[in-house]
Amino acid sequence: MPKILIVYYSRTGITRKVAEALASKINATLEEVKDTFDRSGAKGYLLAGRDATFKNLTMLETSHVKPEEFDLVIVGTPVWSWTMSVAIRTYLTEQKNKLKKVAFFCTMGSNGDKRTFIEMTGIVNQLPIATMALKTKQVFTDNFENEIQQFVNELNILE
Ligand SMILES: Cc1cc2nc3c(=O)[nH]c(=O)nc-3n(C[C@H](O)[C@H](O)[C@H](O)COP(=O)(O)O)c2cc1C
Repeated sequence: MPKILIVYYSRTGITRKVAEALASKINATLEEVKDTFDRSGAKGYLLAGRDATFKNLTMLETSHVKPEEFDLVIVGTPVWSWTMSVAIRTYLTEQKNKLKKVAFFCTMGSNGDKRTFIEMTGIVNQLPIATMALKTKQVFTDNFENEIQQFVNELNILE
């Protein structure tokens, strides 16, 4: 049975909901990446957009989960300014040499998933074995069961 890590960042809980739904389907360790920078409220939103646009990095809270101990790392992020969140850009940049295999998912209001996955692929320098893009509204209204199932199938985990 492969060892799987699901690592995600979520500012308002949508990406977290997907990560938790995924974790309930597969046997995996779940880790939330936390940004030490306060991204709440209107000011947090504006600075998040700016930092994502300029591909800035941030300081993450310390984690004791070692991605190199997993066969597959599934990385989830909200789309910010048509790319990944600042915390996930930082995580991937810091851990890129420790990821054996990757898969990606994102949540977004409307679009930006393709560029997000291309940039994530570029940072880790390997193709994801599967990707999944979900809209905020469908996650909010619990309408993503089919997509989760398809993503799990594409992961091709024989448990
Ligand atoms: C700073 C910022 C920039 C965003 N940029 C985009 C975008 O370019 N495209 C899009 O479809 N949604 C965009 N969104 C919406 C989020 O991707 C969406 O609400 C997501 O589901 C939030 O996930 P979370 O609750 O896990 O933080 C943006 C949100 C924020 C905070």
